[in-house]
Amino acid sequence: MNKIDGKTKILGVIGNPIQHTLSPVIHNTLCELMGINAVYVPIHVENDIEVAVNGLYASSVSGLNITVPYKQDVMKALKGIDPLAEKIGAVNTLVPDDGGYKGFNTDMPGLYRALCRQGVDPDGKEAIVIGAGGASRAVCMMLVTYGTSKIYLINRSFDKAEKIAELSSKIIPVRLSDCNSIPEGSYLMFQCTSLGLKEEDGLLIDDDSFYEKAEFGYDLIYNPPETPFIKKLKQNGVPCDNGLSMLLYQAVIAFEYWFDLTVPENIVEKVWNKLKKEIYGTRPNIVLTGYMGSGKTTVGKKLAERLGMTFIDTDEEIVKREGRTINEIFEAEGEPGFRKIETEVLKSLSDESADMSMISGAGQVISTGGGIVLKKENMPLLKELGKVFYLRADEAVTFNRVKNDSSRPLLKSGDSEELKNRISNMIKERKGYYELTSDIIIETGDKNVDEVVNEIINRFT
Ligand code: ATR
Repeated sequence: MNKIDGKTKILGVIGNPIQHTLSPVIHNTLCELMGINAVYVPIHVENDIEVAVNGLYASSVSGLNITVPYKQDVMKALKGIDPLAEKIGAVNTLVPDDGGYKGFNTDMPGLYRALCRQGVDPDGKEAIVIGAGGASRAVCMMLVTYGTSKIYLINRSFDKAEKIAELSSKIIPVRLSDCNSIPEGSYLMFQCTSLGLKEEDGLLIDDDSFYEKAEFGYDLIYNPPETPFIKKLKQNGVPCDNGLSMLLYQAVIAFEYWFDLTVPENIVEKVWNKLKKEIYGTRPNIVLTGYMGSGKTTVGKKLAERLGMTFIDTDEEIVKREGRTINEIFEAEGEPGFRKIETEVLKSLSDESADMSMISGAGQVISTGGGIVLKKENMPLLKELGKVFYLRADEAVTFNRVKNDSSRPLLKSGDSEELKNRISNMIKERKGYYELTSDIIIETGDKNVDEVVNEIINRFT
């Protein structure tokens, strides 16, 4: 979080209710990464939106977002409205102007940028939009604006679809009962109803042949991450995305308006990872640490098999990503070079784990390199990645387990007495770090592999 001082600018989001908003995560991270001295807060407005907005303008608030239920009502409090927002009929971003705020809609361009990120360009395509509420109206406008040639709009209440179709001759309202009359083709499909928010919700259209027409699917719902719509399309191997990317980009575009800048994609990517972790968390992974020979690989593989999880070894990941062996990395760049790569791998594993949480399923067992705990920066990363188990073994057990292994650079060279001493020193040096980093310590010296696996399972679940 940025330091707050006399020059800190105020940003915020107005809504009712507002306590569950994710916008502060996005904007405060953007402020931090872009080096902007500003803070973004939720603002609960009970009912008088006009008084609130005027008061915030008078207080020099540098930028505001507007969410439910004020996206229309806020218009009466504005100095000007961007033509696009006017057309969509909803304002979600306020930018200070002379004598008052000007209103914009960044939801629609946000969705467009989210699609571009997926390599989807609506220009010249045909689309099917399901649902005819406020969100659907913005999606239809976006598609028309960005060149979609035809949009079939299906809704349970046909009159609402007809109303949206008044926006453009390219929008064709379709009765729910006629959804199979849509010609065969390859469509961008948008799910804009509230169906899927609740666990017991099914599909509005429960007909496989309908979904076979999709070449790409987007569900505006982002929580849960996989609605029945997304599940259905994924079953058909169709690429999909959910509304979290739209949430991200509408915020990025608002931020760009407020500070008159462009947020680089590498920063957007960092905010994206943080946002995913915030909302979906990472999967329930098991992280194994311990001195070399403590059993991380053998135990880890068996554990993964028993729990139906994927097994990952950080050293193997490093080799895979670098295209070099651990020994080669040590020889070329020394231990500091290796540790740097190791930290990067930890970070990306954590991001990928958040990504995978968008797909339901079991987590990973991650076996780590023996020296991973030596770098302070790695400790929070390990904890973020999952529950950390330290597999403890004493010097004699460790010596017996590793004495014939030449693949370990830190143990290479020297006779067996020297090796024993080196192990003893290393264990002494690292013991405290392992303990500090771990959530649970497992004594492995007097146990076989199955016993260690069982103990971890018992203490993990
Ligand atoms: P938003 O503004 O977020 O788009 P909305 O205006 O409440 O939300 O729109 C909700 C959409 O979900 C509408 O298309 C609605 O269909 P109707 O216009 O027929 O009401 C659709 N929807 C909600 N619950 C539904 C249900 N149980 N079955 C079918 N459609 C439903």
